[in-house]
Amino acid sequence: MCGIIGYAGHRPAVTVILEGLKRLEYRGYDSAGMALIQNKELNVVRAKGKIRELEDKLAFQDPYHATTGIGHTRWATHGLPSEENAHPHPDQEQKLALVHNGIIENHARLKRELQQLGCSFRSETDTEVLSHLISQELKQQGSVPRAMSTALQRVEGSYAVALISLNGEGRIWAARHSSPLILGLGQGENFVASDIPAFLPYTREVVFLEDNEIVQITPSSWQVLDGSSLEHRDKEQVHISWDVQSAQKSGYRHFMLKEIMEQPRVIRDCLAGRTDSSRATTLLPELDHLPLPRRLHIVACGTSYHAGLWARNIFQDWAGIPVEVEIASEFRYNRRIIQEGDLILAVSQSGETADTLAGLRQARQLGHRVLGLCNVLGSSIAREADGVVYTQAGPEISVASTKAMCSQMTAMLLLALHWGRMGGFLDEPARRGILRELEELPAILEAELEGMQQTAQRLARKYAWCRSCFFLGRGDHFALALEGALKLKEISYIHAEGYAAGEMKHGPIALVDPEFPTFALAPGNALQSKLLSNLQEVRTRGGPVVCLAPPGLDQDVDDIWEIPAIQAPLNGFLFLSAMQLFAYEMAVYLGKDVDQPRNLAKSVTVE
Ligand code: F6R
Repeated sequence: MCGIIGYAGHRPAVTVILEGLKRLEYRGYDSAGMALIQNKELNVVRAKGKIRELEDKLAFQDPYHATTGIGHTRWATHGLPSEENAHPHPDQEQKLALVHNGIIENHARLKRELQQLGCSFRSETDTEVLSHLISQELKQQGSVPRAMSTALQRVEGSYAVALISLNGEGRIWAARHSSPLILGLGQGENFVASDIPAFLPYTREVVFLEDNEIVQITPSSWQVLDGSSLEHRDKEQVHISWDVQSAQKSGYRHFMLKEIMEQPRVIRDCLAGRTDSSRATTLLPELDHLPLPRRLHIVACGTSYHAGLWARNIFQDWAGIPVEVEIASEFRYNRRIIQEGDLILAVSQSGETADTLAGLRQARQLGHRVLGLCNVLGSSIAREADGVVYTQAGPEISVASTKAMCSQMTAMLLLALHWGRMGGFLDEPARRGILRELEELPAILEAELEGMQQTAQRLARKYAWCRSCFFLGRGDHFALALEGALKLKEISYIHAEGYAAGEMKHGPIALVDPEFPTFALAPGNALQSKLLSNLQEVRTRGGPVVCLAPPGLDQDVDDIWEIPAIQAPLNGFLFLSAMQLFAYEMAVYLGKDVDQPRNLAKSVTVE
């Protein structure tokens, strides 16, 4: 959600910033811009729409030679997507410009105050108050860090800000509060960005900034200051193991397809070094300091929430731990009973989702323990939780989350195994069997993906006419049905609802007619005959039915999509991939923007 890149170095800043913005495109945006200082003047170039519109504008300007600058992709919150509302926003006197991610909640009050001081506003954004506020403070304080410190202390809400000023050519200042910001350290060049891929071709050495810190970078130096006292803060430098390749399409047409196809590798990476087959045990030192949870509260949003729902029965069956799964935006406001010994598991690919982060903070404030399950290293949830298990999936670029869910499911299997052994719930032969199946899973999935893509393509073409449909499942497969529906609607814009199959007759079946297909997940488990009866109810009402099932299903439906028969719950990984590919092929066939669906952002850092 919005992207920031700031560059201070020796290369032409325009090129580095444009490249960085393109690598942040996946976060979702509707306008873009950059600011540079050249010949002692502030230059701001902005455009509505995609980055190519910004490039077109730059092509008509005198070339910029500046080697310092800031850039931004904006996902509109306050004010429509337009050139005026795009960032960077300069102050009144054109002496500084800044870019901002997040929301300034008290912007209306600050704006009135600034207007009384004579500031005139040129945009409808909340961000513009920051430019004027810092500029006013700069006149009083004389130094940019001091001005930022005083101004930001008056701001309520969330922000990651990067700023350039005529006061300090060749420098960039940045600060954050509840919105990610990372420092990239190069040779004779330094970066600030909202996500690592923005500067990955230049450096893998990073520093994660904390709330209430201000950073100053020049081409040859960087310094992190306490946001209030402005005293120097020592920071740890971290080496990121991702390479540039992992943030590129590698020959695939879309990131989403690449990330689906990567899932066998994702499972292997998530398991790597975390199992010991000889002792039939897991190796998760991250959990060493945590006692066996009495009850687990899984808190997450969207796809991560579906991963939590999928894992619920597994925690219960393998470890005997009762589980509540709650959408984070509800969890943060609902009163509930969390007791001594309960553990909150905050599941988030990005580790920055505002609702999940707020749920974590609230739980910690009440004295409860929180474990993070995150993909992004050093993200807010990872840092603020009492412990973190990383899913090790590598950067997920496509807005529609795919491999992240696969890695979360794998990691939660490991957690269930760990607690199953700890609580004496799973004996050694059971653990040995599960570990063996887990180790075999990546190869099974690898062998299936290509064939699955062909089936997905055929069925997507056959059902591309539909405007609404159901995804049905029972048990663990209900969670996967919800995810199948979410994937289809978010990238193909076809209305799809996931339902527990047995719930159909309590209302939803009224929708069924010959133009309303149903996609059913029928894994051949103990509930198979009940699910098949539910499907007959749909067929009787003229609804087309596509059934995803292991070979050998003898059922009168419109299409059978054979999914190899492997042991539950691991068969979930095959069903999940099938539905991801179906949604992908449908979106491609309908000509939609697969990797950047409309209205969506990769990381939802606002409430
Ligand atoms: C769907 C999707 C979203 C995210 C949700 C949570 O494809 O990407 O539903 O799953 O916004 O994001 P994280 O996992 O980063 O907390």
